[in-house]
Order: sequence, then C-alpha cells, then structure tokens
Amino acid sequence: MLNQTVQDALNKQIQYEQHAAHVYLSMSAYFEAINLAGCAHWMRKQSEEEVEHAMKIFDFVNDRGGRVQLQAIDAPPTEFASVLEVFEKALAHEQKVTGLINQLYELAIQEKDYPTQVMLQWFIDEQVEEEKNVGQVIEQLKMIGTQGTALYMFDRQLAARKED
Ligand code: FEO
Repeated sequence: MLNQTVQDALNKQIQYEQHAAHVYLSMSAYFEAINLAGCAHWMRKQSEEEVEHAMKIFDFVNDRGGRVQLQAIDAPPTEFASVLEVFEKALAHEQKVTGLINQLYELAIQEKDYPTQVMLQWFIDEQVEEEKNVGQVIEQLKMIGTQGTALYMFDRQLAARKED
C-alpha cells in the first residue's frame, strides 16, 4: 500500500510526464510547420515516450492499491526561435525531469518505500539515456549550423528514429 505522501508525489510526476509529452508534441507541430518532417517525427516519438513514462507510473500507483488523480496540464510553448533552440529547450526539460526523479527517489528512501525505489531505478537509467540523446542532437546541430544542405541531411537522419 502506498502512503499518501508518496502517492501525491507520484501523481505529480504523472502530471509532469504528461506535460513533457505535451511540450514535445508542440515542438513536433512547430517542426511540421517549418517543413522539417524528420525533426517532427523525432519529437513525436519523444512525446509518445513521455506518455509511456506517465503510464508506467499510472500502472504502478494502481498496482500498489493507490489512487491515480490526474491533474491539469499547462499549455506548452508553441513558437521557437530556431531548430537549435527547440532541442536546447528539450534538454533543459530533461534535466528538470532528472531532478524531479531524483527528488522522488529521495522521498521513497525517506519513506522506506522499497518498491517505489525499485520502480524509479528504471527512470534513473532512462534519464541518462534521454539527456544523452538530446545532447547528441544539439552537438550535431552546432556542427552543421544553419546551412541548408546539412540541415536537410540532419532532418533525414532524425526521420529514421524508431525507439529510444
Ligand atoms: Fe519522462 Fe523524458 O522524461
């Protein structure tokens, strides 16, 4: 059985994962609007992953006999200054999520909630991967700058994303 403090924190994390899904879907819409279909696809996959993250916690709360209480999701940003800015914002977002997962883990330790600690270990590993992936995209973008041909090739590369 989940205690109330951990349950509230997990519900908050569900809200944040849903917010992340919303932000990435908005970034995908932005890329569609500027005709970068590969970047749009990459962000759409990223958004789908965030829905999976939210559902992982959703299922965990239910499996523990807790009560999922969904909350309002803030509107995402819709306009961006450049392709690079979008990915930099995505990285900042992931770094914030990493901090939230770490806080949640600390809470689970304080509350001696061992199953929550085990569940969160998956998220701790996942955050390493998430930050690495977005960081790599940023490094590549910095290398190519805003040149048309290179950006076109970069966009085609991102179109190949399946999972991660
Ligand atoms: Fe659910 Fe990308 O963190």
